Amino acid sequence: MTPPEPVFNVLADNLAEKGWAVTDDLFSTDFLYALLQEEILLFKDGQFKQAGIGKGAEHKVVSEIRSDYVHWLDEEQLSELQQQFWQQMQEFKQFLNREFFLGLKDVEFHFAVYPEGSFYKKHLDRFQRDSGRTISCVLYLNKDWQAGDGGQLRIFNKETYVDVNPVFGRFVCFKSDEIEHEVLPTKKERYSITGWMKN
Ligand code: OGA
Ligand code: MN
Repeated sequence: MTPPEPVFNVLADNLAEKGWAVTDDLFSTDFLYALLQEEILLFKDGQFKQAGIGKGAEHKVVSEIRSDYVHWLDEEQLSELQQQFWQQMQEFKQFLNREFFLGLKDVEFHFAVYPEGSFYKKHLDRFQRDSGRTISCVLYLNKDWQAGDGGQLRIFNKETYVDVNPVFGRFVCFKSDEIEHEVLPTKKERYSITGWMKN
């Protein structure tokens, strides 16, 4: 995959301007289909865990706050597709570092599945005791998502909010320490890959 500099540029401008950004043009349809297939296979194979909140010893599953399932990618054991995704995210990270001198270092990503009825209540991605998460990224993999299926990402901005539909191939990124957000209850199984650029 060649790094789409113009797309990175638009994302970076929006990140700087309002703290979040969205594009539908980061990945090819063929790649997205293949990635979705891989996610579904891993899920069916029981390779997901109920997601938790907090880090280290404070990590716990609180299903009143979030009710999704995750499968963390292991940098040492990436599949070919995961490697392509990872590479694209590394390119984006380096672009942001060049543009904003952010000094982003590691990245971490997990697949996420939100079963019917699940959600993630309003939160910030930066853990209280861990300031590493700087840029949050989500790529949605929901084929044929329809208005009424729910599962929107609600991004808060002071008194107002914007709802982003989790449609196939849509990529959203935002500042982890500034942007409060939530995942509205989904009425259909909802697929994505989510992660963070850290420093
Ligand atoms: C998260 C999160 C948003 C989404 O995993 O922290 O907020 O749209 N995900 O899946
Ligand atoms: Mn979040």
